Amino acid sequence: MTLSYYKEELKKTATSLASSGKGILAVDESTKTIGKRLASINVENTEQNRKSYRGLLFTTAGLEEFISGAILFEETLYQDHIDGESMVKKLEGRGIIPGIKVDKGLRPLAGGLNVETFCSGLDGLIERASDYYAQGARFAKWRAVLQITSDGCPSKLSIRENAWGLARYARSVQESGLVPIIEPEILMDGSHDIYKTAQVQEEVIKEVYLACGQNGVYLEGSLLKPSMTVQGAGCNNKEDPEEIAAMTIRTMERAVPAAVPGIVFLSGGLSEEAASVYLNLMNKIVRKANWNIGFSYGRALQHSCLKAWNGKNVPAGQKALLARAQANSEASKGCYIAGSQPSSDEALFIAGYKY
Ligand code: 13P
Repeated sequence: MTLSYYKEELKKTATSLASSGKGILAVDESTKTIGKRLASINVENTEQNRKSYRGLLFTTAGLEEFISGAILFEETLYQDHIDGESMVKKLEGRGIIPGIKVDKGLRPLAGGLNVETFCSGLDGLIERASDYYAQGARFAKWRAVLQITSDGCPSKLSIRENAWGLARYARSVQESGLVPIIEPEILMDGSHDIYKTAQVQEEVIKEVYLACGQNGVYLEGSLLKPSMTVQGAGCNNKEDPEEIAAMTIRTMERAVPAAVPGIVFLSGGLSEEAASVYLNLMNKIVRKANWNIGFSYGRALQHSCLKAWNGKNVPAGQKALLARAQANSEASKGCYIAGSQPSSDEALFIAGYKY
């Protein structure tokens, strides 16, 4: 099969994922990363515990009202729930579209500056994507990471290489029927101001879409997953939420083609409440393009849930997840009232965070 065979389906899937009032639950933490999350509540990182936790998420009653898709790690795509039914079936049964993280992680970028990386996983990707499709996945994610430093990162080389990798990935998975979520994350590490972030992010996203054009990526069957345009975590000048929302929309309007059906933000270490408040404000701004502005949060959807579950209390975990899913659903329509749902203000940013 080829991209032209899947075109209509890709467009339909991308549009459903980015439908108004719904967002994506990112549950694609690698085994090492989920281990860190489980360790924070003193739960051992065993397959059984990962299965219990993720099973809790996928069986939350009413989740489908707010969540259109879930990004899985490979283990989960092939895993059964503790009741014997597959995790994929659990999601499909609720009308939640299963997706899969397909990148193989970050590697040092030879010729780049100190902290720079590229994202690996292109070898055999068309074939892997086709296996994932057969297993039920309908979309994919690939996360490239750039960092702003006082000594010149991101370099032109890293911007070009990461943009090219994202575009090669996007085209490759479209050949196998998966909608690519294109994720060029700008880390919050650093003490730069919001204007520096905006300038770098605009350059990066423009380069991504230049590469997408050169690779023939079908934009109507793709989604963008950027970080929000915020100052560095170490910057003394903390912008107010209205300015963050305005700068983020300005950056998107300058760089994202109108053919892309949706922009689903990552939370990137923002607190649960901040991730909802910024999203809500963005959705109050009259925009030049018609993309759906939604969410694809990992930490900002799961933090309170993980704590409430604490390894045993399933109903409390599900209640906390549903509260954040509802809050972000409202925020994606611009009608979230800050504090109306239980949330945490705890900053989830960790310097040098690795997935
Ligand atoms: P966060 O929302 O925790 O940043 O995770 C989203 C994600 O999928 C990062 O790749």
